[in-house]
Amino acid sequence: MAVSIEDFKKALQLWASGVTVVTTNSEKFGLQGMTVTAFSSVSATPPQILVCLNQNADTVNGIEESQNFAVNILRADQQGVSNEFAGGASQQQRIDNNSWTAGLSGVPLLNDSIVSLDCKVVNKVLVGTHWIVIGEIQDSVCREGEPLMYFSGAYRALADQSFV
Ligand SMILES: Cc1cc2nc3c(=O)[nH]c(=O)nc-3n(C[C@H](O)[C@H](O)[C@H](O)COP(=O)(O)O)c2cc1C
Repeated sequence: MAVSIEDFKKALQLWASGVTVVTTNSEKFGLQGMTVTAFSSVSATPPQILVCLNQNADTVNGIEESQNFAVNILRADQQGVSNEFAGGASQQQRIDNNSWTAGLSGVPLLNDSIVSLDCKVVNKVLVGTHWIVIGEIQDSVCREGEPLMYFSGAYRALADQSFV
């Protein structure tokens, strides 16, 4: 028997992750973005990553239309940006409130994030409520800064500690 949703959430919130904003730009829906922690590296050759996106998220419609998206890895001081892109602001405000540069396909690359990965969709699979969207990285921009972290339902920062 599968675990309950409560046990699923209890276990999975103990997975520490960074925080990203996935953006897109489509003719039909314009500039859009949403906060996503379900992001992973998949393959270096070819250079592919994945994100898991709720099928009901507005931004999914834009990605479906454009077949392009960017993954922007947030900096430690961007908790407010994460909250905006998680529904705290309208799509228009999310874009207007943040400085960005158009990527190869016109997707917004957030200038204050620490990394922007400009991707084209190469595959997608619907699993339960979420699309697993696989993107091939067309361009990457690395900037300075420490990452914003998310653990146990709260934003975190890296501890300045090493194990060597
Ligand atoms: C810290 C954090 C992490 C999130 N991670 C994801 C995620 O990995 N996948 C997802 O579909 N939604 C995730 N969400 C929820 C979406 O950001 C939120 O539902 C958003 O408003 C959906 O975008 P939309 O405005 O395009 O509908 C997360 C929210 C927060 C605050």
